[in-house]
Amino acid sequence: MRSHEAGVLHAEGYGGPPLYLPYPTDVMELLPQLWPRSVDRDDAGRLTVGGVDVVTLAGDHGTAAYILDEDDFRSRAAEFRQGFASAFEPLAGADVYYAGKAFLCRAVVRMIAEEGLYLDVCTGGELATALSAGMPPERIGFHGNNKSVAELGRALDAGVGRIIVDSFTEIDRLTALARERGVRPRVLVRVTVGVEAHTHEFIATAHEDQKFGFALGEAADDAIAAVLSADSLELVGLHSHIGSQIFDTSGFEVAAHRVVELAARVKDGYGVELPELNLGGGLGIAYVSGDDPQTPAGIADRLRAIVHRECDAAGLRLPRLSVEPGRAIVGPSGVTVYEVGTVKDVRLDGGLTRSYISVDGGMSDNIRTALYDAEYTCALANRSSTAEPKLSRVVGKHCESGDVVVREAWLPADVGPGDLLAVAATGAYCRSMASNYNHVPRPPVVGVKQGGSTVLVRRETQDDLLRLDAGIAAVAGTRS
Ligand code: LLP
Repeated sequence: MRSHEAGVLHAEGYGGPPLYLPYPTDVMELLPQLWPRSVDRDDAGRLTVGGVDVVTLAGDHGTAAYILDEDDFRSRAAEFRQGFASAFEPLAGADVYYAGKAFLCRAVVRMIAEEGLYLDVCTGGELATALSAGMPPERIGFHGNNKSVAELGRALDAGVGRIIVDSFTEIDRLTALARERGVRPRVLVRVTVGVEAHTHEFIATAHEDQKFGFALGEAADDAIAAVLSADSLELVGLHSHIGSQIFDTSGFEVAAHRVVELAARVKDGYGVELPELNLGGGLGIAYVSGDDPQTPAGIADRLRAIVHRECDAAGLRLPRLSVEPGRAIVGPSGVTVYEVGTVKDVRLDGGLTRSYISVDGGMSDNIRTALYDAEYTCALANRSSTAEPKLSRVVGKHCESGDVVVREAWLPADVGPGDLLAVAATGAYCRSMASNYNHVPRPPVVGVKQGGSTVLVRRETQDDLLRLDAGIAAVAGTRS
């Protein structure tokens, strides 16, 4: 990113558009790789998604609103399932776990189950959502570095298919809870392999300085020994997750090499050949025009080649492979629709003017720009325009200058109050990380398909917020 000792605003190049955002030849154009597959414009220039135009959606459901293209979501889930099935079926097979942390609600659980996927949950809340929507428990994998006794007990009672253990405390807890219940859960040991991957880059190191899993070496060896010696646990495999928004499979290559080496040592040491290997999630999507993710089938082929080669070299039978994509399934299926409230021109150092376009949402419905410097693409959604493209920044309504939704955008110069803007690729980690900052109620998630819309998660109201507040009587109330 830009940097300058006097602060980011003074850095070289500040004020101009970034390299991925050249001056557009047609500011109304929608690049297909950035939007849900059904997105189009009607004759009036209105953006349509799932066959419904956003003016109708805004009228029916209000703004800000998250829109989920259900067919797009299903088709990406199906492509992962099919891609991995055809790459791995001739071998030991493969399972695709949808990572619910990206976005989870009961309708999504149902679609995932219907599309034949498995589900990765990482808290009791995600587990409860999955179970209440009828996800077969044996198709659930339970993650988390601090699963409570209550959460583990609930997982065992439900018959969750895989528990990915993350600490020695958890191994002890789970051993005791399983023994009490007379069950023998299937367990994977999460190992950290010294690989950190983000987008096009990865770093491979010998050590990890973070909270997840067991570092390769003594910690992982001891964790495996502990699980193998617990008669109430069944060790079925190893798990590794290396990062997020990854385009390049070379990080997986290093990770697979290191995990397979460990599996070979388990075989040598204990005579146990672990039947499963989970390589986690983190597959990238296109947020802006320069992003170029691989297809699910391409990723599956690549991972097969890597795992095949590593297992051959280590003299191991190929394990059943699992992956846990979240963003790559739901990210591109989601669009956020906002209404513009105010527009303000700001003169920049280089003589340019930037239009600050304020919308009726912001960092409470999409924290990713503020938190990770994430880049997004947006478009005027309610009409066509022939106005000149203007360098713009889409900002929220929160009381904080870092409240930015889209840092860099070319939008028609005539965008004004009452217009609708659509932000692409907001299906993952937007609703699931939403907050009530400044007491802004969280937007609804509206499913669209074949010309119709339905509420999947309703809009929060101010009454919802007040319901949690114990009220002014609490000031005078006694304390227990
Ligand atoms: N499996 C494990 C063990 C994970 O920790 C994660 C993500 C996934 C799968 C799914 O990763 P995905 O395919 O969705 O990238 N809030 C951040 C992302 C955090 C991801 C945490 N773990 C963001 O908004 O970019």
